[in-house]
Amino acid sequence: MKRLPTAGNGQPLVLGIETSCDETAAAVVAGGRILSSVVSSQVALHRRFQGVVPELASRAHLQKIGPVVGRALDEARVSRTDVVAFTRGPGLMGSLLVGSVAARTLSRLWGCPLIGVNHLEGHIFAAELGSESRPIGTPFVALIVSGGHTDLILSERPGGYRVLGRTRDDAAGEAFDKIARLLGLGYPGGPAIDRRAASGDSGAEPFPRPLLPGTWDFSFSGLKTAVYYRVKDGPRPGRTRVSDLCAGLQAAVTETLIQKTLAAARRHGVRDVVLGGGVAANSALRRGFKALREQGLRVAAPPRPLCTDNGAMIAHAAGRMLRLGSRSLLKRLLRPCDCLPARSLRPDPSLPLASWAS
Ligand code: KG4
Ligand code: ZN
Repeated sequence: MKRLPTAGNGQPLVLGIETSCDETAAAVVAGGRILSSVVSSQVALHRRFQGVVPELASRAHLQKIGPVVGRALDEARVSRTDVVAFTRGPGLMGSLLVGSVAARTLSRLWGCPLIGVNHLEGHIFAAELGSESRPIGTPFVALIVSGGHTDLILSERPGGYRVLGRTRDDAAGEAFDKIARLLGLGYPGGPAIDRRAASGDSGAEPFPRPLLPGTWDFSFSGLKTAVYYRVKDGPRPGRTRVSDLCAGLQAAVTETLIQKTLAAARRHGVRDVVLGGGVAANSALRRGFKALREQGLRVAAPPRPLCTDNGAMIAHAAGRMLRLGSRSLLKRLLRPCDCLPARSLRPDPSLPLASWAS
């Protein structure tokens, strides 16, 4: 197998391209060091629809992908990289296609290998990026919470994953977004609820914790219905405050997530827990997760800007695969750039989080 050329720190320079949903993102990373990270958000475009419109998202990716990749290379002061990585899935098909075609084109132009990365694996290892971060060793339990996912994942060896549980209905971020819409707080709802909750009293408007005993799965759609009935007839005069509703709701969601993560770590005898995904930016969730240290766990979470979708997490996940993967895996992954039909490079909107270690 051809040896990879390396960057200044002895690690390959990886360009990561992320276009799975509504952020057009690219970054250059070498050995866990971010040399550049550019994110062009489509929030303004989707705001008036109060949610992501797939057709608009893919068109916006098409417009932005060239300038975003160009800026990522300029800011990293490089004209090419040794490897190109892109998000294969899960995500919106039209959006994924734009990133995959851009990545393929660049790898062909530069004559360098191309790697397809699972978006969830990117979110997990985003916790290794940032100045205070440390490498995440196995075994660990990861909680990935975003607009599309609420997954509890066990990893017992590098590159080995078992999804213990996931949401049965709304993902945590999706629940925040829908409830914020009900409360007229705008889009995206997660950050808006986080801000309003800061001045609220979580005990004033309590909500049940949907713990679903006996399973590692989650369900947040009931909370949405509970909020609906509380505000349907208008706020109770002088009693219901939106900030209290936000604080109560946020407490119900975050305590459920944290309790189940703690229980999964205990059940599987794991000391390391990892938080990732857009909802990992939530203040209450970050506080609660850090408090797990008092239970004897080691916790890792990405810096806030790396919780939501970005190219650095994709480049970094690819770099880890290159570092830790077996020769046969690398042979399979590092396809020559003209080898598109390879399964490992096909965008897949419902790509499962599969183990790549044997
Ligand atoms: O990971 P991400 O950027 O995209 C997906 O892969 O889905 O996550 C976006 C989600 C949105 O639902 C957004 O409302 C939520 O993350 N989010 C938050 C916060 N910041 C973003 N939810 C709660 N609190 C926040 N501070
Ligand atoms: Zn995401």
